[in-house]
Amino acid sequence: MRARLITILALALLAGTLFAASASAVCIDVGVYEEYAPVVRDAAAVWVADTGNQVIVHPFPHSQLMQFPAKGDMDVLVPSCNRSADIWAQKGFVAVASRKPLFCCRISVIVAPGNPRAVKGIEDLDRADLHWGKISFCAWRGEDLLEGKEGRFIVESADADLMMDLLARGEVDAVLGWDTAVAGNPLNPVVLRLACSRYGTPLAALIPAFVTPSSDVPETAGQLVDFLSQSLTAQDIYLKQGYMLDDGGDARQYDTTAAKRFEAVYRNVVRQVIEDYGITRGKALDIGCGPGQMTLALARMTDLDVTGLDIEPEAVEIGRRHAEEAGLQSRLHFVSADAHSLPFSEDTFNLIVSRGTLPFLRDQVLAVSEVYRVLKPGGVAFLGGGMGRLTPEEEAEKLYPSGVTPQKALDWGPGQTREDSIFPFPVRSFDALMTEAGISTYRVIEEGGRWVEIRK
Ligand SMILES: C[S@@+](CC[C@H](N)C(=O)[O-])C[C@H]1O[C@@H](n2cnc3c(N)ncnc32)[C@H](O)[C@@H]1O
Repeated sequence: MRARLITILALALLAGTLFAASASAVCIDVGVYEEYAPVVRDAAAVWVADTGNQVIVHPFPHSQLMQFPAKGDMDVLVPSCNRSADIWAQKGFVAVASRKPLFCCRISVIVAPGNPRAVKGIEDLDRADLHWGKISFCAWRGEDLLEGKEGRFIVESADADLMMDLLARGEVDAVLGWDTAVAGNPLNPVVLRLACSRYGTPLAALIPAFVTPSSDVPETAGQLVDFLSQSLTAQDIYLKQGYMLDDGGDARQYDTTAAKRFEAVYRNVVRQVIEDYGITRGKALDIGCGPGQMTLALARMTDLDVTGLDIEPEAVEIGRRHAEEAGLQSRLHFVSADAHSLPFSEDTFNLIVSRGTLPFLRDQVLAVSEVYRVLKPGGVAFLGGGMGRLTPEEEAEKLYPSGVTPQKALDWGPGQTREDSIFPFPVRSFDALMTEAGISTYRVIEEGGRWVEIRK
């Protein structure tokens, strides 16, 4: 009897929920350039789960870029780049005021994991032993990079999937194209981003989304656009797919603001590492070095041969400048690469440090496995976030951004939820991370932030 009552109640509740959902549920049609369709679909699925609304994603190919919106009856449009966004705005396809940034894509060199021929960047276009593919990209971007290089490409196409396929089969060694081309590709290619500052060319495009004037549910469509633009969960999806959220301007800003404020912290962390591990000779690596301030401190305070590595080419450029200014370029180097695929042989480094970078990495198990691989037997890695043991507590307190404490240097605070974390991929438990990576020789350090020491 009781069970029947519960069933009836449950059914009534369920019916109520469904009724409530269907009474207010709205279907949003999203027209999106095909290369971005997977990421927009994934991010919109989170909004659908939260709101009960429906989203239909209509991918359109490059060839239809200019006509597509006129054909479809879309509520939201995501163009391929700023240029098509501007043209659509002029044609009245999109409501200009509704424009919101979604993510940034950039022209990059894309290589297979493991990078068999050690392609390091665009400079390798001059090598005679390589076969290149080129994803035809908007003619107004990056063409000056290619002057005199046209003959180098054995295949050129707008079909990004075809290019990734050729890369997987080893028929091309590298592909030049938008970094967004790799989205969702099972090969999980490595993206070597090109520094806009070095090439003086607009290699990066901020991809916006718009509500259309023809939408009959503009308010809900606007909520979807806002969600895609702001939500942490949507941003996670962009980052997971390898998309950037900014165009490198952050690195320049970081160098003159945060990194300046942290100068004493960098020295303190380096001092702690020297005191604790006594490694002052041999080779060191700083992963996610940003504009290289801590990397510089490490080189200044030891005799180590130091490499700073960061995915952001602009940051690496600034690091190189610091090395030159300090006259340390003979043993302070910088490389733009992905922490998930370190361009070094195994057993290379005596010391590896990384501050504030782990919670920006989409696959931390892979990243720490890479750390372990390139660490020399007898070497130490010191990874984490915070101000270090030697920074006086009252100093450290002033330096944490508002609301951040040493306990939430990598994740979120006690009594809070994941949404309270400022990081896209917060590190909740070093124990879980190390277990999953199969590393047993580690120690968690909870002083001066949250750190893990790995020995090999
Ligand atoms: C908060 S900053 C920390 C910079 C510096 N270590 C410091 O302590 O000031 C995080 C850095 O990680 C870099 N980063 C993010 N994802 C990365 C990846 N997949 N591979 C290498 N670096 C990455 C970012 O570009 C950024 O410079």
